[in-house]
Amino acid sequence: MNALQAEGLVKRFNGFSAVDGLSFEVQQGEIFGLLGPNGAGKTTTIRMLSCLIAPTSGTATVNGHEIINDPLAVRRSVGILTENPSLYERLTAYENMDFFARAYGITDERTRKDRIKEQLDFFGLWERRNDRAGTFSKGMKQKLAIARALVHDPPVLFMDEPTAGLDPEASKNIRELIEKLSRQEKRTILLSTHHLEDAERLCRRVMIIKKGKSVVVGSPEELQDSMAGKPSVEISMEYVSKAIIDAVKSVEGVGEAFSQGKNGRIVATVENAKSAVPMIVRNAVGAGASILSVSVKRPSLEDAYLKLVKEENEAQENAKEEKQ
Ligand SMILES: Nc1ncnc2c1ncn2[C@@H]1O[C@H](COP(=O)(O)OP(=O)(O)O)[C@@H](O)[C@H]1O
Ligand SMILES: [Mg+2]
Repeated sequence: MNALQAEGLVKRFNGFSAVDGLSFEVQQGEIFGLLGPNGAGKTTTIRMLSCLIAPTSGTATVNGHEIINDPLAVRRSVGILTENPSLYERLTAYENMDFFARAYGITDERTRKDRIKEQLDFFGLWERRNDRAGTFSKGMKQKLAIARALVHDPPVLFMDEPTAGLDPEASKNIRELIEKLSRQEKRTILLSTHHLEDAERLCRRVMIIKKGKSVVVGSPEELQDSMAGKPSVEISMEYVSKAIIDAVKSVEGVGEAFSQGKNGRIVATVENAKSAVPMIVRNAVGAGASILSVSVKRPSLEDAYLKLVKEENEAQENAKEEKQ
């Protein structure tokens, strides 16, 4: 059974499609990324899946429960980290947890205490349990918000932009905790982000969405291979001459080759780095190059993502022009 299965989810606000037919499935224990620019429909999707708003059409099951017919069972199955989680700043970390635990119907005091201790321990906040949430750093507040989302021990966790607004160190810390939640506790995680680093490091699979539609789904590696375009070879040398550039260009499989910067560097885009590099080096040396280093750069998922979002824009612009 998939932990999460969405089929043709649509959400329209006054005729505007915020989410426009999303279908995907998330396996148990998987971290699945919803990646997309602002306004892509990430938060709206999460709100539908957590039964906070009803879809205009389409449906989904979460942990086997249908979101329209069985919202109570869905809510029991998921923990939700919202986009801007608000804590009770004047209550202590413990009191914040306790408030939530009661709201989730954990009436037994012993169970409540155990759950709270377990979560605060996991997030390294137990020592600070009696401090007011208002005194916490942004990163600690975020940890507390995640701990709170897990107080009823849900198998599925929705996280809406968990690292947004955090400094690099706090982001890294949160990423490590998310990884641990998945690996150690086998929770299924749906994570929305516009941070490519999050997606690349954490997600087994990613769906890039734009204007409410899925653009592409796959593992970060698959997306990179299929979308990122060609690798490039950078050759540093004592000095660059036109003869050397021409010699590099003449290698089979080299697209462009040009001199970059002032420090004697040629950049060449190639079809296949493995087969092209030896020939590039041989030709460059033959043309008089005194080579200092050679490196192959593969475009990152970030390059791919930016390219894709841009292509989408252009395709839509073109379609508009054709209509006119
Ligand atoms: N309650 C709402 N009423 C009208 N429009 C909305 C509402 N919620 C979201 N939208 C619009 O839907 C689109 C998607 O929003 P959202 O899901 O928040 O995107 P994301 O989380 O990817 O940034 C945006 O254009 C947003 O303005
Ligand atoms: Mg959002």
